[in-house]
Amino acid sequence: MEKLNGKKKLAVSVFISGRGTNLKSLIEFSKKKNSPIKIVLIICNNKTAKGINYAKKNKIKFLIVSYKNKNKAENKILINLKKNKINLICLAGFMKILSKKIINIYKNRILNIHPSLLPKYKGLNTHKRVIKNNEKFTGCTVHLVNSKLDAGKIILQKKIKIYKKDNEYSLAKRVLKVENSIYQKAIKKFIETNL
Ligand code: GRF
Repeated sequence: MEKLNGKKKLAVSVFISGRGTNLKSLIEFSKKKNSPIKIVLIICNNKTAKGINYAKKNKIKFLIVSYKNKNKAENKILINLKKNKINLICLAGFMKILSKKIINIYKNRILNIHPSLLPKYKGLNTHKRVIKNNEKFTGCTVHLVNSKLDAGKIILQKKIKIYKKDNEYSLAKRVLKVENSIYQKAIKKFIETNL
């Protein structure tokens, strides 16, 4: 681990598939004075993902991994995580499900951000389902990843009120803004309470 002012920094790998706003926020966090993390490697399964531009702009190493063969893809990922001495994986809009192999090797070292108040609304299309069910509140959650989808221990959650005028798009926009800020806080909390 790299040292900063006597403190150790966690070597982080962020996994993305698309837009990358959570990645952007994590990069900003890593650049803050006394940040507990250093983003060492970005993994992306989609070569046209917009988020890769944040890696390029910030000169962070990135790896595009084709998922045509999941086993091969994961082996490549594992080799690179090891090579870069990664301590913590942050999934940020990564649209592939990790196999038990990776989850076991990085047990309690993989975080994910999900746009709902877990355990409610696991899986995809959360905002659409939340609106359809006339929920009064929604939110976002940072949680540890285990072998069940969106079901690991919750690290941090933020509740957001839903207004009558909201639709899935307005909601997605508001939730995303909050996601971008809680991921940083969740990492801090995770480090303070779990490591
Ligand atoms: C976020 O809503 C995240 O919660 C979900 O996928 C989206 C990724 O957005 N898992 P971005 O790529 O970080 O902008």
